[in-house]
Amino acid sequence: MLKEWIRRIAPRGAAALAFGLALAASAQAAPDLKALADKNGCFSCHGMQGKLVGPGFAEVAARYKGDSEATGKLARKIQEGGKGVWGRIPMPPHPSLKDEEARQLAAWVLEAG
Ligand code: HEC
Repeated sequence: MLKEWIRRIAPRGAAALAFGLALAASAQAAPDLKALADKNGCFSCHGMQGKLVGPGFAEVAARYKGDSEATGKLARKIQEGGKGVWGRIPMPPHPSLKDEEARQLAAWVLEAG
């Protein structure tokens, strides 16, 4: 009786397990970028909305809306630093960020609008 029940329920259990694993994997593929930004000190100069030392991330997103090269450009700027786009205060470089992390952060900023 119990065996029969297990045989019936097992495939569903396996499906649920697979689903759970897929969810866990996709959570890993989409890391928490806000936490990454926080860890790298971005929020000491940037807010999500208004200007602090640098532009708010929503302002950045609005400025580059429709610019298909913005992700690459901004990723490089985040890594190497730069000035002159938003005012006279420069952004310092963030050399400890990996290329992939800088790209993910740039893409995330561009979605902040
Ligand atoms: C010490 C202050 C400071 C820190 C820390 C900082 N930024 Fe900036 N950021 C700035 C300033 C100032 C500008 C404007 C630079 C300019 O006018 O070209 C800027 C500009 C930007 C831009 C727009 C660049 C452009 O060319 O339009 C993005 C995107 C950005 N920052 C993302 C980040 C991210 C992500 C981090 C964290 C890894 C970060 N910033 C950390 C000060 C900072």
